[in-house]
Amino acid sequence: MNFANHRSIRSYEKTPVPEELLEKILQAASRASSSGNMQCYSVIVTSDPGIKRELYAPHFQQSMVLEAPLFLTFCADFHRMRHWLALNEAPENFDNFMSFMIATIDAVLASQNAALAAEAEGLGICYLGTTLASCGEIARILRCPQHVVPVVGFSLGYPAETPPQRDRLPLRGIVHRERYEEYQESAIREIYGEKEKAGWERYMAIPELRKMIEESGVENLAQVYTTVKYTKESHIAYSEQVLGCLRAQGFMASV
Ligand SMILES: Cc1cc2nc3c(=O)[nH]c(=O)nc-3n(C[C@H](O)[C@H](O)[C@H](O)COP(=O)(O)O)c2cc1C
Repeated sequence: MNFANHRSIRSYEKTPVPEELLEKILQAASRASSSGNMQCYSVIVTSDPGIKRELYAPHFQQSMVLEAPLFLTFCADFHRMRHWLALNEAPENFDNFMSFMIATIDAVLASQNAALAAEAEGLGICYLGTTLASCGEIARILRCPQHVVPVVGFSLGYPAETPPQRDRLPLRGIVHRERYEEYQESAIREIYGEKEKAGWERYMAIPELRKMIEESGVENLAQVYTTVKYTKESHIAYSEQVLGCLRAQGFMASV
């Protein structure tokens, strides 16, 4: 498995993913480490064009949802486990925020196992953060019962592009030895130096993004991140949506 080759794929061939291959990928997902080995997640595989069309709007019209033959939605899921507990006259529990976090970690570990297995087979993926941002609406479309919340999802299919690999922070920027080492200003400048250049050039090379950036008057990549891409207002609104979904799906008992 060559982790160094990863790039997100946003354009796909129409070729379907053979069922045996999908099964292999899902098996890989199921082998991920899991809190208490409870496997408190579910994977919803969407191939139906009608359901994909329903998912398109909550995924902010991102073309991969329609173009890729498959879309995989990984959900934090204590519904199944609670049902089993009830059948065995055990207290159901798991209806609180901590349980949501545990289930989310399980779901994300499973999703990344699936992503790596898919890439090892020559398939491409692109995670969509809109899965969490629109979790309430996506839960409704996918008919998720109580204690099931979509947390991550990715498009899956044969790549119709080989985009250049994106930059990463140098290891010294993300690794601390023994204890967390606070960053001096000079270290921050050095760690983000290459990203500032590569990220800015990448945005400026895409005409729609260049236009948006020029119109917004921002001057550097850092400003793009928090005045164009991820504004305070948008993230407060998404936070409210996610918390509303957790409440509606029964994950906020006694909070
Ligand atoms: C949780 C998560 C959410 C993401 N959401 C989106 C998305 O909504 N749309 C998109 O085009 N890419 C999305 N991505 C892909 C990232 O943009 C991509 O991983 C990052 O730019 C690095 O590029 P690379 O994956 O090609 O190395 C997401 C990635 C993650 C991990």
